[in-house]
Amino acid sequence: MADTPTPEAPDRPDPGESLNVSRAHAARGEAGAAVTREKRIEESGREPVPLWILLACGVVLLIGGGVMGAGGRLFDYSPHYEGYVRADFEAGGRSGPVTDTIMNALMRRGAKVYSKCTGCHQSNGQGAPGVAPPLAGSDWVTGNTERLSMIILFGLQGKITVKGTDWNLVMPSQMPLDQVELAAVMTYVRNSFGNETGDVVTPEQAANALALFREETGGAAFGPPKTEQILLEKHDRMLEGGAFDPGTMVDLETLEPVEEDGGGEEDGEDGEDGEAGDGGSEAGPEAPMDVPEGADPAAAPATTE
Ligand code: HEC
Repeated sequence: MADTPTPEAPDRPDPGESLNVSRAHAARGEAGAAVTREKRIEESGREPVPLWILLACGVVLLIGGGVMGAGGRLFDYSPHYEGYVRADFEAGGRSGPVTDTIMNALMRRGAKVYSKCTGCHQSNGQGAPGVAPPLAGSDWVTGNTERLSMIILFGLQGKITVKGTDWNLVMPSQMPLDQVELAAVMTYVRNSFGNETGDVVTPEQAANALALFREETGGAAFGPPKTEQILLEKHDRMLEGGAFDPGTMVDLETLEPVEEDGGGEEDGEDGEDGEAGDGGSEAGPEAPMDVPEGADPAAAPATTE
């Protein structure tokens, strides 16, 4: 098989081969050039990121950065307009406690304490047959406060007539209650569900009810539930203790009255009313300028009483 290429047959330079190798090589070289002109496709099949996407990202970043850089306004949740200046707290003045009328303050607290009662008397105070009589329109609620306080503190059993209907069930004591809670819930039931006594039961009056309770129970946590007869014989009166005008402004935290009138212009003066009173009475005669100052403290004790 020692064949040599025959120049006479240029189509078949390699006699042993079935195809012309040099032509095949040339053809392959042309095809290869075309392939190299195209973009390379990676073996993973991923294409390179197009330039326009890179540019778009750049624009987004640029705008985003600008927005954040502009004081972050877009992400600012402050409701105040630009240039808003928050008022300074006045050191030494009445900065913290918020005030409201004692009626509003007790009604709000009373609504919470009343959750003790809703299970039986219902949230609308209408009661429920076989469970508890109504508080709405009941004389026991709107009548004398000592009776009402004794029902709440001791509980109630036996026959009781409410709005002309007889009930004969048992209400358990609602203790423990502190004086503010008791005052609040009594004020609340007396002025809700259509009841409108328009008065407040003060914490002082409630404290007196609690004193009566402790006196009777001798320090025990509970006493025997009251009956209609005992309520009418022994407790048919108003609780002792200074009455409040329901419109009196009080500190919501302490429920102590605050003086709204007087040094209204300057909070700083309010705090010093007590001392200014002493100074005012001495300085009063000397300078007419002091007269209005002295008048404030003089008025203040009158409102406290
Ligand atoms: C476990 C149920 C129950 C709870 C809780 C309850 N009561 Fe009563 N209440 C009764 C029942 C029952 C009677 C009637 C008792 C009777 O027949 O002697 C009654 C009677 C009364 C009465 C007199 C009758 C009337 O309807 O006016 C008043 C006032 C009263 N409750 C107020 C309150 C208050 C205020 C609270 C919450 C601090 C309260 N009760 C919590 C069951 C309850």
